[in-house]
Amino acid sequence: MLRINSVRKLYKDLEVIRNVSFDVSDGEFLSLLGPSGCGKSTLLMMVTGLIEVSGGQISINGEAVSGPRREVGVVFQQPVLLPWRTVLDNVLFPIELLNLSRAQYKDRAMELLSMAKIDDFAHHLPRQLSGGMRQRASICRALIHDPSILLMDEPFSALDAITRDEMGVELLRIWQANRKTVIFVTHSIREAAFLSDRVLVMGRRPATIVDEVAIDLPRPRQIAMMEDEGFNRYVRRLRKAIEASHAS
Ligand SMILES: Nc1ncnc2c1ncn2[C@@H]1O[C@H](COP(=O)(O)OP(=O)(O)OP(=O)(O)O)[C@@H](O)[C@H]1O
Ligand SMILES: [Mg+2]
Repeated sequence: MLRINSVRKLYKDLEVIRNVSFDVSDGEFLSLLGPSGCGKSTLLMMVTGLIEVSGGQISINGEAVSGPRREVGVVFQQPVLLPWRTVLDNVLFPIELLNLSRAQYKDRAMELLSMAKIDDFAHHLPRQLSGGMRQRASICRALIHDPSILLMDEPFSALDAITRDEMGVELLRIWQANRKTVIFVTHSIREAAFLSDRVLVMGRRPATIVDEVAIDLPRPRQIAMMEDEGFNRYVRRLRKAIEASHAS
């Protein structure tokens, strides 16, 4: 469904991404795991079509990505909400951009806010929310138009550990119920192992894919699984891959 083919990115003469290639299949949950500054956000933003590649191609269902697309939902690393709009109106913003009926999507928006446990704040402004609540609101916004591809850039990094695990389980529920394809950026090894079908480990800048690990754990995944030996074997395997890329 999604093909990243020999993609490069340079910011002036800073080489950030060097020759990255991978495919993502329909319905797959893929994580990109790598150290801070290696180019994860850059790679994800190229998939959204918001920034251009310097070389190579990115295509969705065989079509080259040249700008934002309707079937893609994005959760940015920083929750970007319009400060003058209420939380509900922020969640409904993509609906307006797509010229769809607000009235038709309002119940869905409230449902998503309730799932994210911020429905009580639907009529508040973003500045009246905590950082983690804002991030949850931006996850709702990414989901409102039911995109088939979800690109998420460390969406849970501002959340406390318990909420973070709960949001992970909730994300998996949405993903499984609606057959979405997800690319999830994280620097948490446990989060990557818990959520994913497959984890791509990125090395230091200029980023390349240094390892690929298929996570063959049963679904639905449950938080208790994080105690299992099978899970922890994957965590160790991923940690080794990251350490090896640091050493080289
Ligand atoms: N617009 C830009 N102009 C110039 N350099 C940039 C720009 N955006 C990112 N970079 C550089 O590209 C590199 C990769 O940045 P990126 O944000 O993709 O990293 P990241 O892997 O997402 O890191 P983190 O885990 O900290 O979010 C960094 O060295 C950064 O300084
Ligand atoms: Mg980033």
